[in-house]
Amino acid sequence: MLQAINLQKKFKTKEVVCNINMQLEKGESVGLLGPNGAGKSTTISMLSSLVMPTSGEVFWNKVSINKNPEALRKTLGIVPQEIALYPELTAKENLAFFGRIYGLKGRLLIERTEEILLKIGLSDRKNDIVKTFSGGMKRRLNIGAALLHKPSILIMDEPTVGIDPQSRAYILDTVKQLVEEGMTLLYTSHYMEEVELLCDKIYIMDQGEIIAYGTKEELKLLVSDNQTIELKAHLLSSAFEEALQKQFPMASVRKEEDILLISMPKKEEPLATIFAIAADNAVTITSAIVKIPSLEDVFLHLTGRALRD
Ligand SMILES: Nc1ncnc2c1ncn2[C@@H]1O[C@H](COP(=O)(O)OP(=O)(O)OP(=O)(O)O)[C@@H](O)[C@H]1O
Ligand SMILES: [Mg+2]
Repeated sequence: MLQAINLQKKFKTKEVVCNINMQLEKGESVGLLGPNGAGKSTTISMLSSLVMPTSGEVFWNKVSINKNPEALRKTLGIVPQEIALYPELTAKENLAFFGRIYGLKGRLLIERTEEILLKIGLSDRKNDIVKTFSGGMKRRLNIGAALLHKPSILIMDEPTVGIDPQSRAYILDTVKQLVEEGMTLLYTSHYMEEVELLCDKIYIMDQGEIIAYGTKEELKLLVSDNQTIELKAHLLSSAFEEALQKQFPMASVRKEEDILLISMPKKEEPLATIFAIAADNAVTITSAIVKIPSLEDVFLHLTGRALRD
């Protein structure tokens, strides 16, 4: 349905998207996962005909979107990373505005606006002006604006960044439902758990390149002989981390808030040694969990870095 061949984007001499290939079939839910600055938004802008690639081409139903951008635009719903709404207008007026852009009018426009307000859970706030809304409500309205014309493909750029947990759960539920109803979806995020929840196929992007592609299961096979030990402890110290690294040179040791994560090959049975090193360094371990691989581990395995800095 949507296909990108050797897409490249340079800003001046800086190459931010390097010859990537992607494919979305009808009804598929595809994730584009990558850290800040990976090139996700730039890729999406080229896929949706908003930005011209430096080289390469995008095809919608086998026709180049350079030749016929309208065919894609009229059936594409795009949820941009930056919220694009009129703060002085009400929720309903904002939707009506976007509906008119898509050519909806009269009774149909009113019906679609009401349907969308219901879908995004804002019916009871429809006559309030948008500048009084929370971040999460604005995000929901931003998504609603992309759905008015019943798109057959939806591209979402990090739609849950910086919002409260309830709105986030609401958005994820709404998106899941859209996918179940047959929407073709390209979902961009740097939250691996969202991509795991929503997407059948996943592209992992880093520094302008697609570094891995597959189903969740296929990607996890890349690290299936790995394990991650999650440690909680009193008095974690850099001396302890260094001692662990020295004992397990194959491991990656990193700290996330007050948890220490140690990823290493499964063949090692490290718990007894970890406890001994902890005792030597006056660290008291309060819990140790051995975890199966996640997409986070896949990213770490491929790049040596965590998905979130
Ligand atoms: N118009 C532009 N001019 C110059 N550089 C740009 C432009 N747009 C993006 N870039 C650069 O391209 C790189 C990729 O940016 P992009 O916004 O596509 O990344 P992203 O994966 O969407 O990141 P984020 O998760 O922060 O949204 C970054 O280094 C960014 O600074
Ligand atoms: Mg972005």
